[in-house]
Amino acid sequence: MKNKIILITGATDGIGKESAKALAKQGHTLILHGRNETKAQAVCEEIKSETGNNNIDIIIADLLSFQDIKRMADDFKKKYDRLDVLINNAGSCFGKVRETTKSGFEKTMALNLFAPFLLTELLLDILAKSPAARVVNVSSKLHEWSGKPDFGDLQLEKNYAPVKAYGLSKLYLIWITRHLSSLLQKKGITNITVNSVHPGAVATNIWQRSDKGFIYNLLSKLASPVMVKPSCGAQTSIYVATSSDLENVSGKYFANKKIAKTCDKYYSPENEQAIWDYCKKITEKYL
Ligand SMILES: NC(=O)c1ccc[n+]([C@@H]2O[C@H](COP(=O)([O-])OP(=O)(O)OC[C@H]3O[C@@H](n4cnc5c(N)ncnc54)[C@H](OP(=O)(O)O)[C@@H]3O)[C@@H](O)[C@H]2O)c1
Repeated sequence: MKNKIILITGATDGIGKESAKALAKQGHTLILHGRNETKAQAVCEEIKSETGNNNIDIIIADLLSFQDIKRMADDFKKKYDRLDVLINNAGSCFGKVRETTKSGFEKTMALNLFAPFLLTELLLDILAKSPAARVVNVSSKLHEWSGKPDFGDLQLEKNYAPVKAYGLSKLYLIWITRHLSSLLQKKGITNITVNSVHPGAVATNIWQRSDKGFIYNLLSKLASPVMVKPSCGAQTSIYVATSSDLENVSGKYFANKKIAKTCDKYYSPENEQAIWDYCKKITEKYL
């Protein structure tokens, strides 16, 4: 399909903004999600003037709030009659001190795992209206650094460290991507595919946004010159969102525009189910 309706979360900066720009150049209708209306509006104007595509809209929500995610999904459905591509791109690595959302959830898990889970669930009905819909979950190779999951401490109350929380959130995101893909297949829903991607090591603000402790602050400063530009980091998301090579490809993990291997050291169907059930349980009120 030439003109897809594409919703990208975290489209106001870094990889999300560059993904949006490239997809706008291809002529699609873009809905840029942001949490700050002024910033989102400015990015929208910038993309319109750089690409000549005026079919760019914004939608605002703080993804740390389930209520806001629900309102965003409802707003989207009031305005659009189908969704062809959802890119769950927004994400962050928080600081060395564990922080919680207003509802008491650890922020890394809330933003990187619960938000894409809830938003996708809430938009499944409108994705189903597309002849060929795709969900792209932006994960990370750092899922390999997660360490062993503790199913008794999924909110990392006892054992928090920023990169551990980040790695686990991205590992679980890969698991729920696979899980949703197989659930859709079991239900005979063949017009929605769900995949995850690693964008590469990309020079964006994510690594500077908070104080992650001396070692990680130093490592990210040292790594910064060898990281790729956000426009390069956007390539795998764009490929998985739109390439005609990937019709019906679902439940896979991509890096460098190719299917890649995930770290399955802690994987089991039971663990995947446990994370799925946990996401479902804590978002239940909003589903
Ligand atoms: N950079 C890398 O090397 C790398 C590697 C692997 C995976 N990733 C993943 O790639 C994705 C994009 O990251 P990036 O590097 O482009 O980061 P970034 O430059 O920090 O951009 C993050 C985006 O998410 C938005 N966001 C953050 N917190 C939010 C919240 N509470 N509610 C709504 N939106 C929120 C930001 O909004 P504002 O503009 O308002 O701040 C921004 O648009 C993330 O999922 C990240 O984990 C990045």
